[in-house]
Amino acid sequence: MASLTVRQIDDALKQQLRLRAARHGRSVEDEVRTILREAAGDTETPPTAGSTPAPVEKPAAAKRVLLIIGGGIAAYKSLDLIRRLKERGLTVRCILTKAAEEFVTPLSAGAITGERVFTDLFDPAHEFDVGHIRLAREAELIVVAPATADLMAKMANGLAGDLATAVLLATKAQILLAPAMNPAMWANRATQRNLAQLIADGVATIGPNEGEMAESGERGFGRMAEPLEIAAGVERILKLRDAPKPLKGKRVLVTAGPTHEPIDPVRYIANRSSGKQGYAIAIAAAGAGADVVLVSGPVNLPRPQGVTVVDVESARDMLEAVERALPADVAIFAAAVADWRVANAGAQKIKKQAGKTTPDLALTENPDILSTIAHRASGRPGLVIGFAAETENVLANAKAKLAKKGCDWILANDVSPETGIMGGDRNTIQLVTASGVEAWPPQSKEDVAATLIAHIAAALNGEQN
Ligand SMILES: Cc1cc2nc3c(=O)[nH]c(=O)nc-3n(C[C@H](O)[C@H](O)[C@H](O)COP(=O)(O)O)c2cc1C
Repeated sequence: MASLTVRQIDDALKQQLRLRAARHGRSVEDEVRTILREAAGDTETPPTAGSTPAPVEKPAAAKRVLLIIGGGIAAYKSLDLIRRLKERGLTVRCILTKAAEEFVTPLSAGAITGERVFTDLFDPAHEFDVGHIRLAREAELIVVAPATADLMAKMANGLAGDLATAVLLATKAQILLAPAMNPAMWANRATQRNLAQLIADGVATIGPNEGEMAESGERGFGRMAEPLEIAAGVERILKLRDAPKPLKGKRVLVTAGPTHEPIDPVRYIANRSSGKQGYAIAIAAAGAGADVVLVSGPVNLPRPQGVTVVDVESARDMLEAVERALPADVAIFAAAVADWRVANAGAQKIKKQAGKTTPDLALTENPDILSTIAHRASGRPGLVIGFAAETENVLANAKAKLAKKGCDWILANDVSPETGIMGGDRNTIQLVTASGVEAWPPQSKEDVAATLIAHIAAALNGEQN
């Protein structure tokens, strides 16, 4: 059948159609379809803004995303986001806050979603047929884009004074925020405090990005993530949620990042570890259903969802935190722990002394966390995995380390500066076990994590090693 076109209709009729569509909360195209259906004697009509909706046929697998559009300039991008989500086979429902209606109209959002748009908590028709609790319950994922400073503040404090916040408070679904605001608003301590609270509450975030602000020509952090980025984030979250959970019921301990070894209260010895690999492993383990504790040295990474993070600074703190986190079924030691610390770290800032060019710093050995845990007589995790970050003789050193440390597996990688692995996004691993060496192809740190978790799941299920 030919596709619908309203181009040849005169302007007065077009205007009438637009008004009628707006009255019914439909796109013009849907309104024309409805009129044609009625003319053909089919009385079933699609839902309108004020009536009980007729059941709409949806493919069985269509996942329902609820998009809450907040009152920011970036709201115009959310209309494109709806298209991007629909392209991915998702059903999108929209709530617009009162402020959002100043930037985009329910009509546009309704036309693109092909669904009714919700704006009012106290809408009798809405309460009768869908209601805020049903909106909250039926969403498999709620995306807030743009997430205004105001919405973030209300969410962090559990306010529910309008439809958007009432739904956000009532939902059990995962929430993904795409903040967008002026850089000063984003940097404000109140916003950062709210953000930290929301992350601790299990809310996922994407962006904001750095760049030009639409309203002022200002630059900085505050631009909403691009619709394609948000859509990819939505896909990732839904995929992870639906993925098999081979580590369900298992407790996994992961260490990540560098350690900082104090020289005095203001100086320390550190290394170039970014923590990216350990964090990716913790995220993959949590995605596989494990109960994950991540003991993290000082890093500059967002806190992973669904993972208990214990922050530490020095190697000794890390060992203590690891021992406290036991028992575990699996322990993965990805942290780059300093081998040495300053034995005579000063309690006060070391001052330059006349006639002396350098202070006398003596080094002493740090505890070997991997070896300590692998050699535990009782409470040793069933599978102890270490990393060997080497710059020469990678495989030989890794094999020696496997024997010496008493662990089960070593993931060997070459961290020479030219590999870009330390601090970078990719990694090349050789898995060394008692039964041999397995070379993995160069891949992203996320893919290394996924490969490792698949191996762990297979080992725990008795399929190998
Ligand atoms: C032109 C204009 C642009 C705005 N842009 C933003 C923005 O990008 N981010 C933001 O947090 N607030 C922005 N605001 C302020 C919000 O609209 C205001 O805080 C409002 O109460 C938010 O309501 P909501 O969170 O319920 O959507 C803007 C206001 C105006 C007038």
